[in-house]
Amino acid sequence: MVSLRALTPDDAPALQCVYSGASVLYTTGKALTLDQAEKKIRTALAGAAQAPRAQWSWGILTDELIGLIALRRRSVSMGTISYILREDTWGNGYATEAAKHVVAFAFSTTGLDRIEAMHHPANPASGRVLTKAGFTRIGTSDQHTEDGTAVPFQVYASRNR
Ligand SMILES: CC(C)(COP(=O)(O)OP(=O)(O)OC[C@H]1O[C@@H](n2cnc3c(N)ncnc32)[C@H](O)[C@@H]1OP(=O)(O)O)[C@@H](O)C(=O)NCCC(=O)NCCS
Repeated sequence: MVSLRALTPDDAPALQCVYSGASVLYTTGKALTLDQAEKKIRTALAGAAQAPRAQWSWGILTDELIGLIALRRRSVSMGTISYILREDTWGNGYATEAAKHVVAFAFSTTGLDRIEAMHHPANPASGRVLTKAGFTRIGTSDQHTEDGTAVPFQVYASRNR
């Protein structure tokens, strides 16, 4: 079972472990330095202080911090979620559980009625996570890599019912 909580500055070393190895292969492509992890936490905390709020980030915890999940408002009624878990914790249902919590939060608390998410085409595990969390695949969106190549990310959506 996982729980979610706001990040704190002390989470930086654990967050650096999350953003490493296979976990960054199909997201940012780059491992985080400790400085970058600290900056990411500062940005999340600044987002939490904004009004109206457009961004929510949570650490995903078992007995320690194993991942990060975020919700961003993109318009009055539409938001997006993203998540990343430390590689050695994969395959336990943790991402699915965290995604379900955040979708429930989004629909009950923020006024959003549609959530979208996307994943790299070579990362089918993330598609499974989204399907298990109640999302439907709606198409693809070309994302451009640093060398200009277009990668057709798979796009999913979930509606408040
Ligand atoms: C994608 C990711 C979040 C999955 O986390 P997780 O905690 O292992 O996910 P879960 O255990 O909840 O579910 C994984 C599902 O994918 C399936 N899966 C794993 N590898 C797979 C593969 N190669 N092909 C198809 N399905 C796969 C699992 O079997 C499981 O489905 P099941 O319950 O039906 O068996 C994790 O791999 C990750 O952090 N990846 C890097 C970051 C990322 O890609 N984020 C998504 C973009 S926002």
